[in-house]
Amino acid sequence: MADETQNDRPRTWEEVLKRSSAATAPDGAIPAMRDGLRALSDLALEEIRAADTLAGLKELRDHYLGRKRGQIKGGLAYIPKLPSEVRSELGGLLNASKRQLEAAVREREKDLSASRAAAAPSIDITLPGRAPPLGSLHPITRTIRDIAQSFARLGFSWVSGPEVESAKYNFDGLNISEGHPARDREENFMISSEVLLRTQTSTVQVRVMESRRPPLRIIAPGRVYRPDTVDATHHFMFHQVEGLMVDRDVTFRDLKTVLGIFARDLFGPEALIRLRPSFFPFTEPSAEMDVSCAFCDGKGCSVCKGTGWIEMAGCGMVDPSVFEFAGIDPDEHSGFAFGLGVDRITMIRYQIKDIRLFTENDVRFLAQF
Ligand code: DAH
Repeated sequence: MADETQNDRPRTWEEVLKRSSAATAPDGAIPAMRDGLRALSDLALEEIRAADTLAGLKELRDHYLGRKRGQIKGGLAYIPKLPSEVRSELGGLLNASKRQLEAAVREREKDLSASRAAAAPSIDITLPGRAPPLGSLHPITRTIRDIAQSFARLGFSWVSGPEVESAKYNFDGLNISEGHPARDREENFMISSEVLLRTQTSTVQVRVMESRRPPLRIIAPGRVYRPDTVDATHHFMFHQVEGLMVDRDVTFRDLKTVLGIFARDLFGPEALIRLRPSFFPFTEPSAEMDVSCAFCDGKGCSVCKGTGWIEMAGCGMVDPSVFEFAGIDPDEHSGFAFGLGVDRITMIRYQIKDIRLFTENDVRFLAQF
């Protein structure tokens, strides 16, 4: 029954018009139109009040109150075609119904928005969490940590020293005497005549030997500074890891063993090392350590510039004068030291072609590690 009445009621102006023109009783057209309009308006009101979503409500508003094709609009557009005596009555009916429907839409809209706000908690705890972008370790940091880990296995502990350093530790204690070319003002970032940015981590050797007694096994990673012209392979700031071992009867063979273990840790079990004679004021004898090129197995490639070897560190047996400066008796103790170039090692490990990338803070570069 209820359904029948529902279905019976016109939902469009077209239907109202059709029914009114189909009215058979004499003068039945106008009353039929009036009834039709009332029925349409009632139905619209019911539907609007029953709308259960804002989207559904908008659809109803468009259907009944739409400015161009809405049903009320259709009726109003027809008014001029009606006999003049009923125009104002039916026009008034349409306008009243329009206002009523508009008010009903506003009210329903308010209710629906309020209940939606109440129903939706402001935090949806069922949503998966949004992961914050994670940073990653700088490639230099990675290399330093890997180096430190390798030496930690051999009992070397991590020590740091100041980057702003005195000539005493940067030169005097390392047997680099006054007048040595390394002390030229042009070779250093001088802060005053006696203070500079350290040019090497070897400074930490002196500090450690001065303040501790052997046996000593330390590494000292850190930044060093030299006024070099910056290009793809040079920078005014770079990184070294200093190593020092002092005990009784430490020999050159120990140095070779330790560096060999380190090279295999960092570059794989096939890695070989070789030592070439060299000179440093603070070691005697001194050597340059190379590691076999892991990219071509020593056959020669662009990474090793065809030589099959890659230069890795300076090293040697601690010079007796360095021991004496620090108050360690060179007749009782011996030791070796080495200085690894961290930037070079990192560039080779990760195939980085330009040292400047390390300090440019470009996330596109850094996010790769
Ligand atoms: N300090 C040297 C440099 O910066 C590297 C070095 C060479 C360190 C030999 C050492 C060493 O400890 O024994 O060029």
